[in-house]
Amino acid sequence: MSITVTFIDPRGKPVEVRAEPGDNLLRVGQGAGLPLEGTCEGQMACSTCHVIVATEWFARLPEAIEEEEDMLDFAAGVRRTSRLSCQIELTEDLDGLTVTVPAESTDLRRM
Ligand code: FES
Repeated sequence: MSITVTFIDPRGKPVEVRAEPGDNLLRVGQGAGLPLEGTCEGQMACSTCHVIVATEWFARLPEAIEEEEDMLDFAAGVRRTSRLSCQIELTEDLDGLTVTVPAESTDLRRM
């Protein structure tokens, strides 16, 4: 079964992406061309993979561990439902997941 994830890009445009269970949310977003830098490649040493999860989906994700919470403190435009996309592994239960790439995100690859 494939999973559909909707990314809302920093301009507010929805980008629908197909993924497979086990895929990493950061990689899926990068593959779709979204400006998610992911500098540390999932080591929780940056916050450039920050996304804001739609409220209705937030509680359905496994809880963030303390290191992720700490790193989110450094993210620009952080909200109550913010997560590091590199820490989210997609499962069938997450089919329909919607996340926003904050307007504050910068992608150095595009500068
Ligand atoms: Fe650095 Fe997610 S890629 S914390």
